[in-house]
Amino acid sequence: MNRVHIKTYGCQMNERDSEAVAAMLRARGYRIVGSEDECDVMLLNTCSVRDAAEQKAIGKAANITHRKKKNPDFVLGILGCMAQNRGAELLDKLPDVDLIVGTQKFHQVPDYLDNLRAAREAGVPIGETIIDIGEEAGSQNTIKDHLSPESVEGSGGAADLVPQVNAFVSIQQGCNMDCAFCIVPKTRGDERSRPMDDIVTECRTLAARGVKEITLLGQIVTSYGRRDYAHTNGISPFVQLLERVHEIEGIERIRFTSPHPRGFKEDLAAAYGRLSKLCEYVHLPMQSGSNRILKAMNRPYSRERYKEIVDSLRAVRPDMYFSTDIIVGFPGETDEEFEQTRELFEACNYDMAYVFKYSIRSGTPAADMGDQIPDEVKEHRNQVLLDILKKNSERRNAALLGTVEEVLVEGPDKTGKRFTGRTRGNRVAIFDANPRLIGQLVPLKIDRASVSTLYGELQLAGVDGLEADGQNHIPSSSGLMTSAGSQF
Ligand code: 5AD
Repeated sequence: MNRVHIKTYGCQMNERDSEAVAAMLRARGYRIVGSEDECDVMLLNTCSVRDAAEQKAIGKAANITHRKKKNPDFVLGILGCMAQNRGAELLDKLPDVDLIVGTQKFHQVPDYLDNLRAAREAGVPIGETIIDIGEEAGSQNTIKDHLSPESVEGSGGAADLVPQVNAFVSIQQGCNMDCAFCIVPKTRGDERSRPMDDIVTECRTLAARGVKEITLLGQIVTSYGRRDYAHTNGISPFVQLLERVHEIEGIERIRFTSPHPRGFKEDLAAAYGRLSKLCEYVHLPMQSGSNRILKAMNRPYSRERYKEIVDSLRAVRPDMYFSTDIIVGFPGETDEEFEQTRELFEACNYDMAYVFKYSIRSGTPAADMGDQIPDEVKEHRNQVLLDILKKNSERRNAALLGTVEEVLVEGPDKTGKRFTGRTRGNRVAIFDANPRLIGQLVPLKIDRASVSTLYGELQLAGVDGLEADGQNHIPSSSGLMTSAGSQF
């Protein structure tokens, strides 16, 4: 009973949490397996942001419970946001679930599995479902589900064999912004930041292991440390953190998600001018382009301010890539108000966007607002924005044809025959390469582009330390090119 499969729904934070659970389980002697057909324990790490995400995980869990009929020792666990949001109520629909563990208790998963295993080995029938969705007691600054990389090292398992190129680093949990549509304050709790020194130490350890790209994660990263650290010379704690990560040798690219427009002050815009490792890709959730809707959403900025932020960033980095989150069909959204969103969406010229149809989340203020928008209207508005996005994305990719972009080689692509990586602007690229180039920053000449993907040829001749075909050796340091990546 030691083969565990973890299926993750939702955001990067969930991905990070699943990685942490996997690492803790490996360290306890469990095997993390990629195939759900070959596991003894299935853990669903869930998302609650929209109803569709919850329904997907519930459907999956219902499916899996059939396996328990054949094999009573099979263990099914529901972790994360939906566990936190629904708790014991999940048992109405899924009475056979063994484990329901909330977002502040991921670190308990190994103990709970050990207990289940010991009980089964002793022939003791498993009684009640284990449900743990409490708050984690202790300092506001301590994120207990965080697992430091040192404790993972040498834990065995396939993941240790693949060189890690990029890493998510959790800097903060929870959110206190109380956006009217959002369930996150309920599922992730109060905003808590990790101590800056701990984050920097984790990034250093990752760099020493060969990680080149760090993505700092939190629900509202721009508020990082606001209760714990002072501004110094007008520099916010978040920008102070960026500066410190920027100093780490070996780290070549820094990203973060998700910020709030309210936190995009001058110091952060200026940081893009100073910190060359900060990738020119900003995910800046707009949610709506109507001032009335933004107010109803409890989003404290205007469409004018939002556009000002975008312009200020483009002024610092003209080649900046932008992405956003939009909700269409928020309660009461009129055609005119959607038109304002469409207009601002077009004006911002996004390269990427996530468009969501408003989904009622019980317990949030918007759920009780009345004047819900019919599904067909939401669908239409969704499509209008996606059509604009497709054109933008095609245009941006077409403009890259013939240019040379810095790509961080991540590993084999889906076919296993070619390789994949990302540009600094977060575009996915596919190309031929040698496996030894994994983890290297290499120049790629773009010769073909689809809406979402770039294709090209690596330009290795003349790049210090890399032979033409990358066969002979890999340089020991990451100093192939400066992080600005513009001098090929
Ligand atoms: N309905 C639709 N989309 C939502 N989001 C958050 N809550 C809801 C909801 N109730 C979207 C927001 C957020 C992203 C992560 O999910 O756009 O930025």
